[in-house]
Amino acid sequence: MVLFKRDDIIKIIETCQIKGQDEAIIRALMYLNLGYPIMLYGPPGNGKTTIAEHILRYASRGDDYYRMEATEGMTEYHTIGGFHPLSMSGNAELSRQFIYKDGIVTRALQENKNLLIDEFTRAPATAYSGLFMLLSTGVLHLEYRELTLQRPKDWVLVVTANLGDEGTFKMSAALKRRFIPIFIGYTSRFTEEKIIKSYTPGLQPVLINAILDFAEETRRLWQEEKSLPQGLSTDGVIKMARYCDISIEEGLDAKTAFIDSAMHQGVIIADETDYVSLQTVNELALKIASRL
Ligand SMILES: Nc1ncnc2c1ncn2[C@@H]1O[C@H](COP(=O)(O)OP(=O)(O)OP(=O)(O)O)[C@@H](O)[C@H]1O
Ligand SMILES: [Mg+2]
Repeated sequence: MVLFKRDDIIKIIETCQIKGQDEAIIRALMYLNLGYPIMLYGPPGNGKTTIAEHILRYASRGDDYYRMEATEGMTEYHTIGGFHPLSMSGNAELSRQFIYKDGIVTRALQENKNLLIDEFTRAPATAYSGLFMLLSTGVLHLEYRELTLQRPKDWVLVVTANLGDEGTFKMSAALKRRFIPIFIGYTSRFTEEKIIKSYTPGLQPVLINAILDFAEETRRLWQEEKSLPQGLSTDGVIKMARYCDISIEEGLDAKTAFIDSAMHQGVIIADETDYVSLQTVNELALKIASRL
């Protein structure tokens, strides 16, 4: 029996806060049905974590799943387990004693909980080196405990990653191939227009178009001209629309509101340490604003 049946897939898509990523979500669910761990990857702010949480919540019938955010300081201690001082206090007797503490993956397997590892590539590969067998054959050997754990039936493991972002580690080919990569990219202009209208129904169409033009152009500058390190995310589009809406309500004119919000988001998408990069987004904002 499959984990996500046709009706489940429809329900997951219909209730997902993230719009316009239906195909990616369907592919992810199909691979989970086949028992493979999946990796949602792509540029920041386009809904990877939200989609992962939504799938996990559905599969776990609520928030009864484990999640962790990977960080640079993570080791096998956090994933599989290791020895932990019994007391960090001044009690000399106790602080010489150690207990074995299970890591989050071990606990998930033992307690039959699904698992989400957010920002997977922010931890070095060494944190995951003991998981290769689990990821490919479904078995985790716990050396110190002389114990072997099996991947539970219908176990769901989803990780998210910003491949190549500042502060992330490059994955080895061996680790990468143990996941099914699902790309969460920029959604369509049509979908983003609907998203804006759902957040700010009263926003003038001309301003909605200006925000969408700004987003589109930043993505082109990133992908084609490589003059920006990334394009504006859907999250950035929503923030611009909401800022414009509230500022206009407070009496600001549409043009100023647009320039302000574009410049705020500009700092996020540009290389903030590079004057030319910042200048590129600012000039783009002024060019689009001149039509307002
Ligand atoms: N396609 C979309 N439809 C609706 N909302 C969206 C969409 N894409 C992004 N958002 C909004 O952006 C917010 C941020 O998304 P989320 O944190 O899941 O992105 P992310 O890809 O995990 O980002 P990061 O790479 O920075 O972790 C969401 O909560 C949602 O409000
Ligand atoms: Mg995220």
